[in-house]
Amino acid sequence: MSNILITGGAGFIPSSLADVLSKNKNYNIVFVDNFLTGNKRKITKAPNVKFIKCDVNNYKDISPIMTSYRFDYVFHYAAVVGVKRTLANPVMVLDDIQGIKNILDL
Ligand SMILES: NC(=O)c1ccc[n+]([C@@H]2O[C@H](COP(=O)([O-])OP(=O)(O)OC[C@H]3O[C@@H](n4cnc5c(N)ncnc54)[C@H](O)[C@@H]3O)[C@@H](O)[C@H]2O)c1
Repeated sequence: MSNILITGGAGFIPSSLADVLSKNKNYNIVFVDNFLTGNKRKITKAPNVKFIKCDVNNYKDISPIMTSYRFDYVFHYAAVVGVKRTLANPVMVLDDIQGIKNILDL
């Protein structure tokens, strides 16, 4: 059994990845999202998939999840995405660097 974390799991690409990976019963999948742009309808529903609401840019949010599950694989997709959105929120985009740092540190 492999433990897998997908960040941004309610988003376009990560939810498709979760759908495919969930078909393998040897994978235990946790996905996290803060619903900044994600859609609750995209959340994969399967016995081997668990959703946890979390802001990966906040160390206190992501730290207990990373330490308790001890993931074998991490797919880090959580980010402010899209040209219009990033132009409208240029400083907010920088917060995502903290998210990458959190994931790598943990
Ligand atoms: N869609 C593309 O064509 C494309 C191309 C190249 C790279 N990417 C990359 O793939 C990733 C996903 O892209 P997408 O198109 O699926 O975007 P998306 O906006 O559909 O998904 C991103 C998800 O991340 C979540 N999120 C954002 N900030 C978060 C945070 N701090 N904590 C937790 N969740 C957070 C959002 O709510 C959303 O559900 C991004 O990193 C993007 O840069 C996408």
